[in-house]
Amino acid sequence: MGETTKRTARLTFDDKSIEFPILSGSVGPDVIDIRTLYGAGDVFTFDPGFSSTASTESAITYIDGDKGELQYRGYPIEQLAEKSHYLEVCYLLLYGELPNAAQMSDFEARVTRHTMVHEQMHYFFRGFRRDSHPMATMVGVVGAMSAFYHDSTDINDPWQREVAAIRLIAKVPTIAAMAYKYSIGQPFVYPKNSLDYAGNFLHMCFAVPAEDYKVDPVLAKALDRIFMLHADHEQNASTSTVRLAGSSGANPFACIAAGIACLWGPAHGGANQACLEMLREIGTVDRIPEYIRRAKDKNDPFRLMGFGHRVYKNFDPRAKVMKESADEVLGLMGIENNPTLQVAKELERIALEDEYFVEKKLYPNVDFYSGIILEAMGFPTSMFTPIFALSRTVGWIAQWKEMIGDPTQRIGRPRQLYVGPKQRDYIDVRHR
Ligand code: CMC
Repeated sequence: MGETTKRTARLTFDDKSIEFPILSGSVGPDVIDIRTLYGAGDVFTFDPGFSSTASTESAITYIDGDKGELQYRGYPIEQLAEKSHYLEVCYLLLYGELPNAAQMSDFEARVTRHTMVHEQMHYFFRGFRRDSHPMATMVGVVGAMSAFYHDSTDINDPWQREVAAIRLIAKVPTIAAMAYKYSIGQPFVYPKNSLDYAGNFLHMCFAVPAEDYKVDPVLAKALDRIFMLHADHEQNASTSTVRLAGSSGANPFACIAAGIACLWGPAHGGANQACLEMLREIGTVDRIPEYIRRAKDKNDPFRLMGFGHRVYKNFDPRAKVMKESADEVLGLMGIENNPTLQVAKELERIALEDEYFVEKKLYPNVDFYSGIILEAMGFPTSMFTPIFALSRTVGWIAQWKEMIGDPTQRIGRPRQLYVGPKQRDYIDVRHR
């Protein structure tokens, strides 16, 4: 719980003067608690895009955007990316502490026992067009999980909440891989519980029944790191969507489907696909200035994808790790001269020196380098955002669980500044 400080804030307008408490968290900016404002002052605050609004208390993830720092439960992302692995990070996000060995193996066993989806779901997939984007399929199928797993939809039962969390972490990768297999006309590949989380996902995506598939441990490790880097990011658009959907009492599967839908947009998780497509479109280093010019042109809607962030006004720490990973993976695969990587590096160099980007503090974000690694692994661009979605599922579910357990939680209901017509009388169609 945030602590009330001795400081207060006073808002004076018309003949009113209202005092508000100032709350402190464990680290980061204080907040002015304006919950009594409407009752006392008959006014709302106006903050489209929520640039100055803390929508909740949370003990999960901390970001210092100016310093470019990201911590899960206090642990810096760089340390986790180097020393931890995805399922351990899942445990940390869900339960607040790093697991001991027994807790880890119990958690791993619980997740791996839930990786298969209900067999009837296979038929559900067949209702989609083959050329559906895997994100479109995922929104539908994850939402439909509430039709398959009724015994974990009672949000008031802590055990059912726990089962739903494990089911989502375990099954969303299976659903993502199935969406991919379906889109390329190959048979679904069942999960293989002897493999680790990332290895299993590679297997479900790239194995075919006709041949043996051996998971490359280097690729599995790199993919696991991508999962870790995307696991949570405090109150971003998709997480806020999950919380808002959940605030009405909707079941967790419906809430996560809402999060997936929100993530898909190119300003959010869809940026990884859009970024790689942009790098390919640029194609050669000599065309970069043209795209920089377009990004700066106010009359051109084009933006440099993979650049800029609402919170980071410094390097996105995830992008730093991702860049190192890209060098490592492409080097190990013997494709360090990948033309897309060359364009990305040069674009980054030029943009970081350009006055426009420097002045607006636009730095590469997590999506700038992830696509290059995923492409090298053999994923088509349409799978980039589903991979983000499956990695973020743990963050969404941890935030949802935190919200349901919060005694101060109420339905999320923002207000508005109404600028439409004032009351008027209906006019019959003959007189319009
Ligand atoms: N290229 C060119 N100009 C940009 C860019 C960009 N990528 N990003 C921001 N700007 C400009 C923008 O035009 C505005 O200029 P002005 O002040 O002159 O109007 C200024 O910088 C501030 O931008 P904003 O749109 O007000 O900032 P925001 O916080 O609302 O948007 C953002 C953040 C991430 C949506 C935006 O930077 C963007 O569209 N980036 C490209 C998409 C992208 O890479 N998204 C992934 C984000 S990280 C992963 C995730 O969250 O899923």
